Amino acid sequence: MENKNLTLRQSLTELVSRAFDACGYDAALGAVTVSNRPDLCQFQCNGALAAAKQYKKNPAIIAQEVAAKLQNEPMLEKAEFVPPGFLNLNVSDTYLISRARAMDADARLDLPMAENPLSIVIDYGGPNVAKPLHIGHLRTAIIGESLVRLSRFLGHKVIGDVHLGDWGLQMGLIIQGLAEKEPDLCYFDESFTGPYPTEPPVTLDDLNELYPAASARSKTDEAFKAAAQKATGELQNGRPGYVALWKHFLSLSVTDLKKSYAKLDVDFDKWLGESDAAPYVDEMLGILNDKGLSYLSDGALIVDVAREDDDEEIPPIIISKSDGSQLYGTTDLATILQRQRDFAPDEIWYVVDNRQAMHFKQVFRCAHLAGLIPDETKLLHVGFGTMNGKDGKPYKTRDGGVMRLSDLIETVTTAARAKMESSDTAKALSDEEAAACAEKIGIAALKIGDLINHRTKDYVFDLDRFLASEGKTGPYLQYAAVRIHSVLEKAKAQGFTPGELLPPASDTERALLLSLSSVGDTLLRAFADRAPNGICEALFELTGLFNRFYYENKILTNPDAKQRDSWLTLISITERMISLLLSLLAIGVPEKM
Ligand code: ARG
Repeated sequence: MENKNLTLRQSLTELVSRAFDACGYDAALGAVTVSNRPDLCQFQCNGALAAAKQYKKNPAIIAQEVAAKLQNEPMLEKAEFVPPGFLNLNVSDTYLISRARAMDADARLDLPMAENPLSIVIDYGGPNVAKPLHIGHLRTAIIGESLVRLSRFLGHKVIGDVHLGDWGLQMGLIIQGLAEKEPDLCYFDESFTGPYPTEPPVTLDDLNELYPAASARSKTDEAFKAAAQKATGELQNGRPGYVALWKHFLSLSVTDLKKSYAKLDVDFDKWLGESDAAPYVDEMLGILNDKGLSYLSDGALIVDVAREDDDEEIPPIIISKSDGSQLYGTTDLATILQRQRDFAPDEIWYVVDNRQAMHFKQVFRCAHLAGLIPDETKLLHVGFGTMNGKDGKPYKTRDGGVMRLSDLIETVTTAARAKMESSDTAKALSDEEAAACAEKIGIAALKIGDLINHRTKDYVFDLDRFLASEGKTGPYLQYAAVRIHSVLEKAKAQGFTPGELLPPASDTERALLLSLSSVGDTLLRAFADRAPNGICEALFELTGLFNRFYYENKILTNPDAKQRDSWLTLISITERMISLLLSLLAIGVPEKM
């Protein structure tokens, strides 16, 4: 009996587990995996090999017993024993068609839905107020957004939080920079009783100049640095003029950030920041102190987080320095307390660069030691590698600086526009349409160039490769999506409607059906790994098979109307699946290209 919400692999596992059980073996031995020899079979089960040890019996005999039980199963086309104890499995065409029918009839394409939805806070983006977004912020945005969309699609309750860097020394640097430039502003007058102006005293451009200048100066000018640190402390202690200024900086910056993220189709549920954790800092410090975890060492307040069985050195986490200033870890610990109070989540995922791995290890251990969050709550660092230049080092601008995200988007858009010049479809577009199209193509190129790699890997930024129309690229996927859509439009224009699905007429068609039926397992795996690259691979498999299917068959001109209409159904399922997967990766498709 087929259970509706099971994926293909889960259904097979259930079937084979029952066969193991019926033969007198542990049902848990029936786990089915995708075949590692696709030339021989679609799926396999290696349970008989494990059973041989458990039951001290020849694996061949066990596998043959189980295979015998699986003959005549409508779900399977074959269940075959292969020495020394493998079971090779192929699903039947009837079963593939029944799955395709279920997809056709279901608005969410018969994809799995979590039975026990988790509530998950996903911390991603992490931009810093008053500092322009740079390419270091690109991967967290792209990967984080697709994890948010995937988890939500699977039925989990997701809160995506941008976790703005809005409370640190950069704020004091700007305040001090401005104080020296325009000392007469009311914000610096301690006798001023308000109200403060509603309009900001600076523009966004001013802000973007103030910060780098102040930051550079603090590196050589000790007195300036000390003044900025003092201003940071005063802001954090609520000095009214500084708080009013800070609010202006925040709102200027957030308006700008929202524009950049909108271009990337990245949409946060919460715009909370480090400052929202500030009210929890004292309480958090109190807990660390009451539990006897924090102690003074060389004037700094620290907590030991090393364990005896560590195979690397885990240094103590520094909670505050001898001058009383708080650190990155302090804020992250207070944020955990705030998230527990506000959301009491089951899991918190931090989509942050691998290079911060030690920081998160220390923070998570400390949070659990102190009981800031229940033991069962999972704190996970979803780390990622670096986007490198062709020299293998983190990507830089030509003059060696850090590239602004807006410049990067501009670069890919311009390159996409240049490539479009050679296409006739593009030539027919108005200037405005062409610009919008180029932006969609450029951003898709950037996103697939990133997401096709497992997140933990570094990759090389290679614009030519990312924009190529062949290979595992964004434009290739978009082009396939446009084409499949146009086939369906043409069918509609000729008055054809999708009809009853017939059994596959070729190996390619069978492979396409199997690929569609496998998406559910792919999504579960991507979620479990917190890695969207599997979704990209599924997209390339689907589009590749669709292209092959399209070349091998005369679809719209087929004299057999039943065959044609069955294929139209198959194509329409394929189209819906491709759009769904693209939307999980936050990739848009131009109308024409
Ligand atoms: N603002 C930080 C940075 O630019 C990233 C924040 C990541 N999230 C966190 N909870 N620490 O590096």
